Amino acid sequence: MQTITDPAEMQAIAGKLRTGRQLVGVVMTMGALHEGHLSLVKLARQQAGTVIMTLFVNPSQFGEGEDFQRYPRPFEKDEALARSAGVDYLFAPAPEAMYPEGFRTTVSCRGITERFEGELRPGHFDGVATVVSKLLNITRPHVAVFGEKDAQQLALIRRFTRDLQMDVEILAAPTVREEDGLAVSSRNIYLSGEERQKAPVIRRAILHAGGMVEAGERSLTAAAAEAGRMITESTGFGLDYAAFVDEETFEPAEKAVEGREYRLLVAVRATGVRLIDNEKFRA
Ligand code: PAF
Repeated sequence: MQTITDPAEMQAIAGKLRTGRQLVGVVMTMGALHEGHLSLVKLARQQAGTVIMTLFVNPSQFGEGEDFQRYPRPFEKDEALARSAGVDYLFAPAPEAMYPEGFRTTVSCRGITERFEGELRPGHFDGVATVVSKLLNITRPHVAVFGEKDAQQLALIRRFTRDLQMDVEILAAPTVREEDGLAVSSRNIYLSGEERQKAPVIRRAILHAGGMVEAGERSLTAAAAEAGRMITESTGFGLDYAAFVDEETFEPAEKAVEGREYRLLVAVRATGVRLIDNEKFRA
């Protein structure tokens, strides 16, 4: 595995790879690698002969008061994990290399970004869309793999890569979970022991509400409220949202139409961290 920090050098290598015989896959990360990231690499490996991983804690997607400074950065450990997962190139630029003096451009996508995480974290999705666009231009992959855990981010990336005619296929990888159902996340380390024990209720509540819809409940609002109630009553976590969206349009959905797919999105606040999770169901 070759580690590269200079965007121009990565882009030059990527340009050669792109015209070679093998497909190129990219997995974008902010480091603090865990099973979830490694599952993305595995999926990229199945699709592509060459796998590039990007590792960049992107300042522009963190809002004021968020955890940019304290975000874990175990670089040597990440490098070793990437190598053993079979990554060919690790692209790990410094913030100044990605956002040099004079940088003025933002990629912004309306609609999808206006609710849920977008509403609670102003500017977050502009930061994500901008850095993902840059990283796609630098690594020039045929396929890019993103986790379903960040469902709104995935919907955004699908949207702007389509809108901007970017020549890349976006693939979704299923959420990796701990044995008790908690979605694996770099931020789970911020949970206290007690919070960690309670956190699996999020998954149980999502499955319960989704089960209601699969069993014929047509009020998505009622089913989502039931998930929210289950979580708040048994954990004491603050509920940011529990809501169904249409799987195709990502628009909030109140009434289920039989045969259509919906995704239940949930975000909660524990003491030092927000947790998000989601699942898709068919009415
Ligand atoms: O999902 C993430 O880790 C980040 O949002 C991403 C896609 C690497 C962009 O910084």
